Amino acid sequence: IPVDEFDLVIFGGTGDLARRKILPALFRRFCAGQMEPGARIIGAARSEMDDDGYRNFVREALREFGTGRSCEEGTLDGFCETLSYVTVDARGTQGWKELAAKMKIGVVRAFYFSVGPSLFGDLAERLHQYGMADADSRIVVEKPFGRDLATARALNHTLALHFDEGQIYRIDHYLGKETVQNLMAVRFGNMLFEPLWNAQYVDHIQITVAETVGVGGRGEYYDRSGAMRDMIQNHLMQLLCLIAMEPPAKFDPDAVRDEKLKVIRALDPVPPEDIVRGQYLAEPDDPEKPGYLEHVDNPRSKTESFIAMRLAISNWRWKGTPFYLRTGKRLRGRTSEIAVVFKDTPHSIFGPEAGRHRNILTIRLQPNEGMELGVTIKEPGPGGMRLIDVPLDMSFAEALGPDAEEVPDAYERLIMDVVRGNQTLFMRGDEVEAAWAWTDPLIDGWEARGDAPEPYESGSSGPEDALMLMHRDGRRWREIR
Ligand code: BG6
Repeated sequence: IPVDEFDLVIFGGTGDLARRKILPALFRRFCAGQMEPGARIIGAARSEMDDDGYRNFVREALREFGTGRSCEEGTLDGFCETLSYVTVDARGTQGWKELAAKMKIGVVRAFYFSVGPSLFGDLAERLHQYGMADADSRIVVEKPFGRDLATARALNHTLALHFDEGQIYRIDHYLGKETVQNLMAVRFGNMLFEPLWNAQYVDHIQITVAETVGVGGRGEYYDRSGAMRDMIQNHLMQLLCLIAMEPPAKFDPDAVRDEKLKVIRALDPVPPEDIVRGQYLAEPDDPEKPGYLEHVDNPRSKTESFIAMRLAISNWRWKGTPFYLRTGKRLRGRTSEIAVVFKDTPHSIFGPEAGRHRNILTIRLQPNEGMELGVTIKEPGPGGMRLIDVPLDMSFAEALGPDAEEVPDAYERLIMDVVRGNQTLFMRGDEVEAAWAWTDPLIDGWEARGDAPEPYESGSSGPEDALMLMHRDGRRWREIR
């Protein structure tokens, strides 16, 4: 379904995120026929460039970062016609009048702040000063949304001087992933799961986001952040909220976000023995894969590239069910999944030799997005009552069939939601602050103690102690493949 006509200004329109994610996502939505012919995308950045220069820049970006298989020949030219460019100085006066003159009247106006947070205030102020923002305009901001509670509060305050909360779209791209939205569909669209979704039936929940890549060219940013700030405070926290929240009364932005906020507020403080931090070592004999310290060029760094933790939620639903979270770089595989591990049956009528069998619902974010429910059945054949676990597997790509549109990238969904004015999959200011309020004391704790992360081998499942975090509770991490 096409969205309303819009003008989307991308500040930082020549930056890395624009090249890798925003522009390819817009192109795929264009190919899918979701952009009305009058929709326009205006790149804005400091570099001197004209419209044609920008179009070439975008063509190059699409060549490099994929166009999606649903696009036909010739669509690229059509897409390029929607593009233009203005050289703008966020802190000065250059380009602003020109940009203001370009904006159409009577269409949705969205401004994507794909720039560092230190420019958010300047951009917001100038949008008003030059009369470009009205009560219906939207701004989109990216992480990192602060680096602690104080900086997040300051950012919220700065944006609130110029925009209402209902106009601010804080992106957490994990919320745009197809499986993450499906998580809500599965929980609240089926009778099967919700009655069992509590401490009485769920033994524990594991959330893993494992990456094979290292910190790449982002060493400077990463070394100031670490896995806690880069991944846990936002992406894994959002997954945790969707898994643990109470059913909202409606699928509407504030109803959903109110419930997520309650989860964050019910999180217990985490004792130091329930947190394991790690740093990857160099891949032997591969100069392309240096160790973390070398990668960030800081031999004394105590920043973690891996973190595992055991969390407890103190509310009626979850008291007694631990949540284990882990994420890290340079691990064995690129596996992101949530596993809901149900309890053992209260009594086995098949005797001890039948072994221990548990139902596990696995929600796979990547690769091969989908879900799997492990059920216990009798091993086929005449061998007596022997039990085995088999997966009921649903891969979204397979379930949708070869003719279905490919699973859209998170950014495609989220940018179109901005145009539609739907904030359900965006973080509200108080959510972000609550997540930092929970994160801050943990980081302060290990910094004050001077804890150093444990080295782990590149291509492994992370440090030994992360395995122990589970073993000591008589549990096991699922394999990273
Ligand atoms: C980003 C982090 O937000 O998410 C990166 O800054 C991380 O460090 C990335 O690699 C992971 O996203 P995805 O969609 O590839 O799992």
